[in-house]
Amino acid sequence: MKKREAAKNLSESGLMEKIVSLAKRRGFVFPGSEIYGGLANSYEYGPAGVELKKNIQDEWWRVFVRERADMVGLDSSIILHPKTWEASGHVAGLVDAMVECRACHTRTRADHLIENHFEMKGEKVSVEGKSEKELDEVIQQEKIKCPSCGKFDWTPVRKFNLLFETHVGIVPEAQSKVYLRGETAQGIFISFKNVLDSTRVRLPFGVGQLGKSFRNEITKGNFIFRTLEFEQAEIEYFFDPEATDWKKLYEQWKGDMWTFVTGNLGVRADMLRWREHGDEERSFYSKRTEDLEYKFPFGFKELWGLAYRTDYDLNQHMKYSGTDLSYTDPVTGRKFVPHVIEPAVGVNRLMAMVMLDAYTEEGDRIFLKLPPRLAPYKAAIFPLLANKPALVEKARGIYADLQKHFPVAWDDRGNIGKRYYAQDEIGTPFCITVDFDTLGEGEGENAAKNKDTVTVRDRDTGMQERIAIDKLSEFLHGKIYR
Ligand code: GAP
Repeated sequence: MKKREAAKNLSESGLMEKIVSLAKRRGFVFPGSEIYGGLANSYEYGPAGVELKKNIQDEWWRVFVRERADMVGLDSSIILHPKTWEASGHVAGLVDAMVECRACHTRTRADHLIENHFEMKGEKVSVEGKSEKELDEVIQQEKIKCPSCGKFDWTPVRKFNLLFETHVGIVPEAQSKVYLRGETAQGIFISFKNVLDSTRVRLPFGVGQLGKSFRNEITKGNFIFRTLEFEQAEIEYFFDPEATDWKKLYEQWKGDMWTFVTGNLGVRADMLRWREHGDEERSFYSKRTEDLEYKFPFGFKELWGLAYRTDYDLNQHMKYSGTDLSYTDPVTGRKFVPHVIEPAVGVNRLMAMVMLDAYTEEGDRIFLKLPPRLAPYKAAIFPLLANKPALVEKARGIYADLQKHFPVAWDDRGNIGKRYYAQDEIGTPFCITVDFDTLGEGEGENAAKNKDTVTVRDRDTGMQERIAIDKLSEFLHGKIYR
């Protein structure tokens, strides 16, 4: 069966459940605070997961910051001056409409409750832009029941802010309210002047930032798709609207995002689509916003947003801070506030997509067909038998040597078949076995020729070949970073 057909069938037979279970059993993602009974919408990234997430981040940084002459990087604070969030509009505007079930106290987003209700009826309905009163009316008209307890007894819809509040200051009377950042983007805007003054950037140029953001999400989050804290990878690309055609620039960014997802992350193009925001959904300051969506098992959902935010943010921060954030053209001397196009994505969402897209079942085999560059471990090293010291010693030597070049795994438990099975589920592209031929103790016609070679088994084809130990690193390098 072709991978595409297999994936289609899988989405009908619980692909999400399979990924959640694999993620836990193989050390990718654990439920948050599990020993205390869990904490909704939070997760821990295990030994394999932290490597995969880091590889996705590194790939993003390499492609969008390091290898571009028109980009620089930034790492701003999680706790910024609270006026930042007043200026950006988050204090007033980062709100969701919520209802609470009076019977079981489940809280949920009113829009999600209504949209899911219609989806179950086979209807596609969007309530974007509706007031609390209008949302209330839909819930009452449709008599939508609580998804947790089945009762129909909701509180009226009310708005709540998604920003997490905390306090700076150790004595209560001296404490002042601050927020954990709701997006990394604002850190870029408030550092704009310092970036200009400390580097040689000229428009058009972008600033990229990777880091944690926090939102008080109440809807059950579909694994790591929607969580309380998440890693954002955001770019603010500044330009002169009189010198640069924004429509052309916007299309270039769409192309770059698409290439990254299909090329660098190896995701199937037919699982992706663009969706443009309508007038009701789009922020008032944005001239165009589109989402790159992936077909998750729970439907096409936003993966990566692309917004033309005009000069709104810089103007707001000029107004609230009193600092001049304009740019002076070095050739013409013209002074103006640059406009900005913003590609913004969540790394955790990218990781969920990568795992779902790579999940493959072929006969009895389950494997994650991850691009080798992203795989948590590039190779696993096995001694054929764990109770033969000469095999273990030789394999340990190879492991120590390869470890200097790649993240590699060691396994000497159970039989070779079980070790392959485990590494396939982790997505390790190559498994290396040290056997008696390696030691020069093999039997058969090839024994002499095979001395100081190992078997290398390919994850995707299951084929094995013998490679000389002194050529292993070069062989793997060629396959992984081709
Ligand atoms: N600066 C613009 C901004 O933050 P957004 O659409 O709210 O825009 C950008 O977020 C991206 O961040 C989303 O496309 C998504 O990938 C990710 N994201 C947002 N909220 C998230 C959450 N609660 N959990 C995981 N990822 C999230």
